[in-house]
Amino acid sequence: MKVLLVGSGGREHALAWKVAQSPEVSEVIVAPGNAGIAREPKCRLANVSAEDIPSLLDLAIAEKVGLVIVGPEAPLVNGLADVFTQSGLKVFGPPAKGALIEGSKVFAKNLMRKHGVPSAEFEVFDDYDRAAAYLKELTGPVVVKADGLAAGKGVLVCKDQAEALEALALIMKERTFGQAGDRVVIEECLTGEEASFIAFTDGEYVLPLASSQDHKPIFDDDKGPNTGGMGAYSPAPVVTHEIHDIIMKSVMIPTVEALAQQGSRYVGFLYAGLMIDQGSIKVLEFNARMGDPEAQPLLMRMKSDPVPLMLAAIDGNLRSCEIEWEPEDAVCVVMASGGYPASYAKGKPISGIAEAERLDGVKVFHAGTRLAGDGFVTSGGRVLGVTARGNGIAAAIDKAYEAVGKITWENVHYRRDIGKKALNRL
Ligand code: AMP
Ligand code: GLY
Repeated sequence: MKVLLVGSGGREHALAWKVAQSPEVSEVIVAPGNAGIAREPKCRLANVSAEDIPSLLDLAIAEKVGLVIVGPEAPLVNGLADVFTQSGLKVFGPPAKGALIEGSKVFAKNLMRKHGVPSAEFEVFDDYDRAAAYLKELTGPVVVKADGLAAGKGVLVCKDQAEALEALALIMKERTFGQAGDRVVIEECLTGEEASFIAFTDGEYVLPLASSQDHKPIFDDDKGPNTGGMGAYSPAPVVTHEIHDIIMKSVMIPTVEALAQQGSRYVGFLYAGLMIDQGSIKVLEFNARMGDPEAQPLLMRMKSDPVPLMLAAIDGNLRSCEIEWEPEDAVCVVMASGGYPASYAKGKPISGIAEAERLDGVKVFHAGTRLAGDGFVTSGGRVLGVTARGNGIAAAIDKAYEAVGKITWENVHYRRDIGKKALNRL
């Protein structure tokens, strides 16, 4: 069977690598993919943008693919799964109505409020003056969120009223995120430790993946602005067995039920970003896809073949499935271009990838690279996701950083404390 995988980041490299290992798969066509994916066995790039739904559909039909996997959120929010399903294709990814759980924070918050899914207190505004008047009544930290998709940048955690008013002006007056800022959610600022909880779902049954944890801020000790994610590990010890059960009962299952009541079957990955504080769990956000970089350590640890799981989800048969995991821990350290998440240079020659990959249990996933001559150069903010497995979290961290130590380019930046929160829990 041929598979079409949509997307081009580190998450898609990890998905392509894992899906290509399936005995059921003859070829993975990745649109548009990246230079790392192009070198994987059984993988081929197609020069079609992840946003160009009509051309992706033509490609899927011409190639007679048996499965379509959608990595990023934008094509899902724009209705890729709806259009493809109507053409008789098997798509692993929710329809637009379901993807709204990520595409509109107002939709997600209202759904959680209505169905009793624990989350921060909030108010919604579509008018700058009313929102500003509301902020002026508040004291202390608050979070201001643009309603729509903003490439992970639309959430502003503000330490006081002055910062919150600046954030509001940025979203609603300067319209930095365009239409995504037509409405804002103003919400209570939560404290605790974050975790990512991702599951397969067929619209009814929820089959959870192992837990994981991202590291959003650019600098060590969670300092500096948020990024797409600077590293991740799995499993996350903050998600104990007890907490896992609470997340399933109070978040995942009721949310999938609530989505089913909207009248469109949610098939795909459902990702809950959670704040965990002494046994209390609250949802920070939902995503309609796998996390990036969480996908990298998760797929490094996944023993099962994900392809039959995705097909079972599409056919509504997930209830009969299980997932097996390698017992080892996995850690992914993101190597980024200096300057990211603001502006950065591109085209810097990268050295040491092959040396890093010669280490046992190490895989270098590409996110923003390009081939130049016979070597790779940087072509994005997040460039590589250096991922390692180890016997225990400490060994996995050591191995990942041993591999990172072999790779360099001019003005490379990475965090040196990925996994530290897990170590602190040992
Ligand atoms: P999101 O783009 O929705 O993933 O949010 C990005 C990040 O903002 C989250 O991972 C948290 O670190 C932070 N965040 C979002 N909502 C809250 C909240 N209510 N309280 C504290 N931090 C938050
Ligand atoms: N790593 C966070 C996300 O994928 O949204």
